[in-house]
Parts: sequence; C-alpha cells; structure tokens
Amino acid sequence: MTENKLETIDTPAVLVREAILVRNLNDMASFARELGVNLRPHIKSHKIPRLARIQVNQGAVGIAVAKLDEAEAMIAGGIKDIFVAYPLVTPTKIMRMLRLAERADISVAADSQEGIDALASGAAWAETTVGVVLEIDTGLKRCGVKPNGEALALARAIQEKDELEFLGIMTHGGHSYLASDPEKVQEIGRQEGEIMVRLARRLEKEGLPCSRVSVGSTPTAKTAGMIKGITEIRPGNYVFNDLTQVSLGVAMEEDCSLTALTRVVSRPARDRCVVDAGSKTLGMDRGVHGTSIFEGYGKVKGHPEAVVSSLSEEHGVLSLPPESDIKVGDLLEIIPNRSSPLVNLARTVHIIRNEEPWEEWEVSALGSN
Ligand SMILES: Cc1ncc(COP(=O)(O)O)c(C=O)c1O
Repeated sequence: MTENKLETIDTPAVLVREAILVRNLNDMASFARELGVNLRPHIKSHKIPRLARIQVNQGAVGIAVAKLDEAEAMIAGGIKDIFVAYPLVTPTKIMRMLRLAERADISVAADSQEGIDALASGAAWAETTVGVVLEIDTGLKRCGVKPNGEALALARAIQEKDELEFLGIMTHGGHSYLASDPEKVQEIGRQEGEIMVRLARRLEKEGLPCSRVSVGSTPTAKTAGMIKGITEIRPGNYVFNDLTQVSLGVAMEEDCSLTALTRVVSRPARDRCVVDAGSKTLGMDRGVHGTSIFEGYGKVKGHPEAVVSSLSEEHGVLSLPPESDIKVGDLLEIIPNRSSPLVNLARTVHIIRNEEPWEEWEVSALGSN
C-alpha cells in the first residue's frame, strides 16, 4: 500500500489541490484575456491575499470584496484596486472605506438615494471624491434597482454629486444558482449581459457614460461576459468550485480544488460513523440563497455509499450501509456543497501538490464586517 502523505495534516482541515486551482485560475484568466474583458475576481470566495495576488499577477484588473475587513486584508496583502460590491450606507462604514481609499484605489456600489447621499456626505467631509457603480437587479431580486427609469434617476443622482464619480453599472446574476438545467444557466447569463448592455447604451445616450459595465457569478461569467459591451466579469467561486457548480453543470467533480480533510473518530453502529468535521468546518449549506437541494452536507470522496447526513458543531454523522468498510482512524475527504463557507471558517488552507502537503496559506478577514 502506498503511504498517504496527507496523514501528517491534523484534522479537520481544508485542502486545496494546487493543480486544480491553477487550472481553474488559468481557465478564467485566459477566457477574459482572449475576449478582451476585464477580470475582477470576487475574493469573498477565498479571502486569501496570496491567491488574490496570483489573480492580479495573471491579469485581473483588481478585485471585488463584500466586506471592508476583506478590503483591509487585501490592501495589507498588496492589492491596489478594490471594488466594494456591497452598498455602504452608514457613516461608520463610509469613513472606514474612505480611510482605506488613502491606500488603494477604491470604488463602491450603491443602489439607493440614501446610500448616494451618505457616500457624498462622507466624501465631502474627507475632502475627496469616490467612484460609484450603480447596482442593477437583473433577476436575483436581492440588491439593485430595475434597469429602467429608476436606474436612470439614480445614475443621474450620482453624477450630480460633486464628490462622486459615476463609473457605470454592475449586477450579479446569482439567480443562475436557482436554474433547473445548464441551458437555463446559460440563458440567464446571456440575459444578464444583454440587460446590462442595453441599459449602458441608454445611460450613455442620456449623457451618463459607463466606463464599467460589470457582470458575473461563476455560473454566468462566461455567457454574460461574451455579450459585446460588457467590460468586466466578477466570478469568485470558480477558483475552488463545489458540488453546487457540479449540480449546475458549470464544473465537474474533477474541477473542485477544495475539500475538507476529516478523521473518522467513531463507528458506534454499523449504519453510521462520526467524523471530526462538523458545521464549524463544513458550514450548513444545503444550497445557495437559502435553497435546500442537497441530500447531505457534502460528498465523501471514494465512498459513494456514505451520506453526510447530519452535523453538529464538531461532529459530522455519516449514514452508511452496514457493509461499508469505513473504520475509526480512517482519513476521509469531503467535497463541500459550497466551498466559500469552509474557507471563512478556517484560519489556513493546506495547498496539496502531487498529493503531498506543500504550503499552508493564511485566510484573512474571518467572520468579517
Ligand atoms: C456582488 C457579487 N459579485 C460577484 C459574486 C461572485 O459570484 P460567484 O460566487 O458565483 O462566483 C458574488 C457572490 O456572491 C456577489 O455577491
């Protein structure tokens, strides 16, 4: 029997297979390069400054973040161009963002008059200007205004503020995660791109030029990005992928670079065993945007007979057929339903090269605000 070099890693732990990671990074970077569209990866998916630097070195124009802690960690890690893809509406957040803007080129999203007023007041107080991107709802029904007169009015409201610079429009086609089949995912992506380009043309006609027309989620980045007039894509999850992307037909299991490494600590009955990865390692996601599409909490590699049927904080219970040979002390790997919660819960990820632990990369901005 060959020696398992992963035995030296204490469990539970998060593993990232370098070869798959590099393939995923190269694939998206070359797609953007060949198409001539800017790539601005959302780093909420990995929160790893080292990985963000690799993305920028590969040609990304900058990064997107959801939280200011993420922005802070990435600036400390040397990233210079950051888009806060989240509405900042309080003076506390806006003053924090403006302090960060002294150290990096920061742009922010807005989708309300209140948000625009708050950004303008903050910028006036700090005697500076801020680049603002208007968020548009292309179907997710989360943040963002409809691509109609409402968008026109808010774009104008941004342009009219001396302290704000209207940069353009952004959307996140996250409703692709609710698509019933791969064709529907593609259709949502095309619509995402087309709606945005149509709106950008209309705004331009009204004297509101959009230097940034930004779209993207991992499922839609490529289809939306193909629409002529889109300037930027913002996928995040593609670096790791997960069972959600597999279920959508966006990736295959071989494209999932991230797994949880876990040890079997108990087999108290023939029909179950217990591993040391619970909800504090795997998260509780059964789908995206509150859906519950998965039977369990991940897939055990090499053990199709096992179902990760329930989680408490430090215990994962696997339902097994009685004949399963899984035993106490076994090392197992679980491909997660969603990869980003695992990273958010881990201090480091172990990079695996040629099936051996190679390096440990620090995750920044855990549980951030
Ligand atoms: C605003 C925004 N942009 C981009 C992304 C990246 O999408 P994905 O995680 O599908 O790669 C997200 C993810 O939630 C997001 O919220």
